[in-house]
Amino acid sequence: MPATVVVGTQWGDEGKGKIIDFCGQGADVIARFNGGSNAGHTVMVGKELFRFHLIPSGTIRTEKLNIVGNGVVVDPAVLLKEIEELKGRGYPVDNLRISERAHMVMPYHKVLDGLEESLKGSLKAGTTMRGIGPCYEDKAARIGIRTGDLLDERLLRERLEYLVPMKQRVIRAYDGEEVLSVKGLLEECLGYGSKLKDYITDTSLLLHDALREGRQVLFEGAQGTHIDIDHGIYPYGTSSNCVVGAAAVGSGIGIRHMREVIGVVKAFTSRVGTGPFPAELSDPQASYLRDKSLGEYGTTTGRPRRVGWLDLVMLRYSARVNSPDYLAVTKLDVLAGIDPVRVCVEYEYDGEVMRNFPANMNVFASCRPVFEELPGWEDIREDTWKEALKVGYDELPGEMREYLHFLSKETGVPVGLISVGPDREATLDIRG
Ligand code: GDP
Ligand code: IMO
Ligand code: MG
Repeated sequence: MPATVVVGTQWGDEGKGKIIDFCGQGADVIARFNGGSNAGHTVMVGKELFRFHLIPSGTIRTEKLNIVGNGVVVDPAVLLKEIEELKGRGYPVDNLRISERAHMVMPYHKVLDGLEESLKGSLKAGTTMRGIGPCYEDKAARIGIRTGDLLDERLLRERLEYLVPMKQRVIRAYDGEEVLSVKGLLEECLGYGSKLKDYITDTSLLLHDALREGRQVLFEGAQGTHIDIDHGIYPYGTSSNCVVGAAAVGSGIGIRHMREVIGVVKAFTSRVGTGPFPAELSDPQASYLRDKSLGEYGTTTGRPRRVGWLDLVMLRYSARVNSPDYLAVTKLDVLAGIDPVRVCVEYEYDGEVMRNFPANMNVFASCRPVFEELPGWEDIREDTWKEALKVGYDELPGEMREYLHFLSKETGVPVGLISVGPDREATLDIRG
């Protein structure tokens, strides 16, 4: 049976959590494969609101298996807090498994995240301060600690005896004041281990078995293509791969199983953090969109998101590196009532037209957006949207359909899912 991969096509926060929740209905297993607690995925089911940082957005579907794959960096304190919160809301969370190969975000990673950011000057990405970069640094340097290590006291002690003095030196060199202790960290880690031991396992094997038995797997990407470590706006992105290819590497199954790719696109663009943003809006339009959208405040950090018009140069690049079968377009209700709607179709750089996304940050920073205007659609109440969705695509406003057609034509990818509200029900599935 095929596996479906859901990825973000912009700068994150496209509404992946909502789309995962919607598509989760038809899945047996939901698996995260990248990022860490820098992610904030929102799911709304009726009046119930959930914000997930580490655990997959399918965990509230209690009959489905949910997996945190090896490509995720796990902050055990955040994970345990999320588990406890869900339990408090009546969800047993016995359907969650964590890869024994997933690297752990250690307390010193969070300290170093802050210290590194404070020294980076104009290279500062405005990180979420969740220790993501330093944790992936250690993974690549082969000095990380993995969740499986929490269950092996001898190994853990050995690692910490080397690592703690190393990290202490770095913290001091950065003028940090944090004092680390092997004993303290060992106790803390063993405590996490004893609480998490029933969740930690070989999740690649679980996925492999599920696929062999013909069960449907849904992969939940975190972040977005344009903050991917290779394909994003380096150095203002995150430290993991967020594109479709990461689903295989970050979960431990082969690419042969990936049969459907869904790229989630917000109907406009948003960005948390620093770096150039050619199609960015300024006030009062930015405040209007942000406030109408309600959700345009970082799910993880609460920072106001920068907002702008849809950027097709970004999306063409995302279509290229993710090969999506479909686009899932979210927040079309938020653009409603704006007339005309503008779309950035290309950039102008040094007097030349640029339709392909540049790699060089200085070039990108000098790109000027070239907009095309499309007619806007009427703003209608949430209930009216839901009624229209029940009837089908043809019931949606003609101008909105024109917008979707334009988006699809320019990216070469058909629209498969349409979202006009945060709620599970405010979704139309027109996949063939
Ligand atoms: P993610 O990181 O990609 O999962 O996205 P976030 O959850 O960080 O941010 C998306 C926000 O938009 C959340 O508050 C969602 O509840 C909300 N949302 C998702 N789809 C829609 C939609 O179609 N319309 C509206 N108005 N809100 C949406
Ligand atoms: P979801 O999964 C939006 C951004 C941060 C910062 C940069 C590096 O909710 O879409 P990091 O803490 O990863 O080292 O920060 O990446 N960033 C996100 N922006 N949505 C996210 O996740 C993000 N995860 C990281 O704002 O600019
Ligand atoms: Mg988010």
